Amino acid sequence: MKVTQSEAIERLIKNDEYTSCTEAFLDCRLPGAVPKGNYSIIGPGVTQSEHQVVNFREPHSFNIGAASMPNGVTNNLHIHFSAEVFMCTYGEYTFRWGSNGEYEYIAKEGDILSVPTWLFRGFTNTGPDGSWLFTCLGEDNTGGVIWHPGIMQAANESGMYLTKNNMLIDLKNGGHLPEDKTQLMDHFPESEFVNLRKVSLADMSQRVSARDNRVFSSCALLDSVIPGHSCEIAPVIGYGVSQDRNSQPPITNPHNFTIEVVKIPAGNEIGSFRIDEKMVIIQTSGEVEIIFNQEKDISITVGDKDTYSIPKNAWRTIANKSANEAEFIMITAGDMRKRPEFENKIKTLAYELGYTIDSSGYVVKANLIIEDSLLLDE
Ligand SMILES: [Fe+2]
Repeated sequence: MKVTQSEAIERLIKNDEYTSCTEAFLDCRLPGAVPKGNYSIIGPGVTQSEHQVVNFREPHSFNIGAASMPNGVTNNLHIHFSAEVFMCTYGEYTFRWGSNGEYEYIAKEGDILSVPTWLFRGFTNTGPDGSWLFTCLGEDNTGGVIWHPGIMQAANESGMYLTKNNMLIDLKNGGHLPEDKTQLMDHFPESEFVNLRKVSLADMSQRVSARDNRVFSSCALLDSVIPGHSCEIAPVIGYGVSQDRNSQPPITNPHNFTIEVVKIPAGNEIGSFRIDEKMVIIQTSGEVEIIFNQEKDISITVGDKDTYSIPKNAWRTIANKSANEAEFIMITAGDMRKRPEFENKIKTLAYELGYTIDSSGYVVKANLIIEDSLLLDE
């Protein structure tokens, strides 16, 4: 598939285009929960406000958003039906989970945390004002959220109600309750607490990828053997794009997406490849240039904190032409391992340097495998 310049531009969501909605959720009037910024960057996520700006609506099999609020402000306990992954890129957030928020984990800058479905969770900014969480939610339709019954009760008393189709009614802002009260969301019954997922602190700790304990591979892609094509990839959720057979992600349950962290040293690039799935990159430091098509005729720069969606099957080179290391979070659609296909020039160069990929798609020394299985195109 060929990418045009206008397509390349419309898939870039620059960080100054992220648009906060402070009335996205049922608890937005409750003491301690104000002001709370919610951002929908790719897909609507779980917003409950018709005023939420969604930067890019194209379905990806997942939703990318963000949350940010001043120090001390809380997002109250709620349940998700699809995977919810938090990527803390600035500051610190304290997460609580369990039927009454009885467990706690402090997420530091660089942490990526996956909270299981069907479990009450909430979080408080315990770092500087503006501490930032990117979020990735599984599925196109996330199904919304269920609020803790105590929060639902307090919100109703503050004049906020929720309909069964997940939209807010704000009585203090001109909203009206429907005559048919069955259209309102019921309170989650406390008798169901016993059936919710039980996750201990030890269990949750297994679902955190911290910046300092990520395991990066410097041979995660075939083209990494070529001078000027250095990159390092650390698996976080699922097996992702890596072609290193030793790659072992810390989090492996189904999310409907995979996450890897990628570093490209200054002046290096990932050579032209394509995959069958949509890919989103969230730039966490430095910048990269994405160069599209086999002709390499279209390019766009993804800056620090920007989000970029790469269409499936597009040929793309990801180049760091800056003087500093670039790091980004790479999210690809689907739970399965992805199979990058490098352009023939890359495959040939790697082969001349003694490397190819084996029949499982992993990087190997070419002299160790049977000649007939070399995956060079004619
Ligand atoms: Fe949430």
